[in-house]
Amino acid sequence: MAELSVVIVATDSEQRTVLQVLVDGTSVARTVHTCATFPLAASDPATRRVQAAVPDVLLVDIPSDNVTAAMRAIDLLHQELPASAVFAIGNLNQPQVIVSAMRAGAREFIERPTTTTDLLEAFVRLTTAQRRVQKEGLRGKVFFVVNAKGGSGATTVAVNLALALQSAHGQTALLDLAPLGHAALHLNLKPLFTLADATRNLHRMDSSLLESFMTRHSGGLQLLAGTNAPAVIEPSTAEFVRLFDMLATHYRYVVVDNSSRLDAASRLVANLSECVLLVACTDVASLWSAARVQQYLGETGNRERLRLVLNRFRKVPGFSEAEAENAAGVKLLWRVPNQYFAISSAIDRGSPVTEQSHTEIARCFSGLANELTRNDLDVKRAAWSLFKTV
Ligand SMILES: Nc1ncnc2c1ncn2[C@@H]1O[C@H](COP(=O)(O)OP(=O)(O)O)[C@@H](O)[C@H]1O
Ligand SMILES: [Mg+2]
Repeated sequence: MAELSVVIVATDSEQRTVLQVLVDGTSVARTVHTCATFPLAASDPATRRVQAAVPDVLLVDIPSDNVTAAMRAIDLLHQELPASAVFAIGNLNQPQVIVSAMRAGAREFIERPTTTTDLLEAFVRLTTAQRRVQKEGLRGKVFFVVNAKGGSGATTVAVNLALALQSAHGQTALLDLAPLGHAALHLNLKPLFTLADATRNLHRMDSSLLESFMTRHSGGLQLLAGTNAPAVIEPSTAEFVRLFDMLATHYRYVVVDNSSRLDAASRLVANLSECVLLVACTDVASLWSAARVQQYLGETGNRERLRLVLNRFRKVPGFSEAEAENAAGVKLLWRVPNQYFAISSAIDRGSPVTEQSHTEIARCFSGLANELTRNDLDVKRAAWSLFKTV
């Protein structure tokens, strides 16, 4: 692999020296410039000097006593140097800082104290990912499906949405994060590996290892199956971020079936996703729970990405959608009709309703997939070329 050029931004002089030694010690990267202040604006001389160094990677150290300035710097550098990858270095037991750094544009979050191995692994991941992006295009989009309460239909929505995305665009993965994974059952698959195997092997994960943990459905959808027993050792938040990043780099669309899981890890994944689909029914208890889940997931300031999916929907006199939106505190995106027989027998047979083409319920899920992808550049391009050939 070609040597990567690295710029180190760290206000602490000792940390700056340590990082330089570590970077140069990887032997795949070289420090080309160090910066002792956080750049404040595009016109700042510090920004100019960083730009002049044309780095492949920007290592930004987040000091625990000045998180805000570091975030602003990450945001600015990400804007001003779009071709460079930002790696944030910081404290891993602050999920909120990880989310803010990733949102500001960091593509890796590396623990402090950092080791040469941590950096080497991150550099290798970057080169591998860049090769794929050059070959196949952009990073994937992640859709996160959570229920208001157990039984609302999160797994049904996630499985059918993933199948619809796979059939329309290909390269789709389904990640089962539920406390007890049901997605494999819905798809009639018998996975050899699960999420637990993937997280245990994150330190040596690459594309081919990731693929070997996935279970392939006949139409091409790839499932990273959930646990079949409540987990004894939970993966750390950092491990979830890394897995999330691997999946988004490797697949075009990733659907997460979170079902009822509500912990720091699932909240982190929700906050890093493109869109969070909150699945609820139209009864009072369900909408009440939806509001609680919305508050929990939205606490970290990402409420605008939450969307309500009303499942088992039927028009009832006196029921208004605006009231449902108000009760849940989330804007309505989609309605899934109430079709108990079709859905429950499809689950029992392991043959999801999306596969029964030309039915109302199959159209409903392909419509949801279209809605979620309609602004995607390559999807638009495909529609345009189709139009031109007519
Ligand atoms: N649109 C629907 N109409 C009628 N019944 C449904 C619908 N969606 C799901 N169900 C039923 O609800 C049950 C729970 O759905 P599931 O997707 O497992 O929910 P969750 O993952 O939120 O716990 C399923 O077994 C299915 O029979
Ligand atoms: Mg479920």
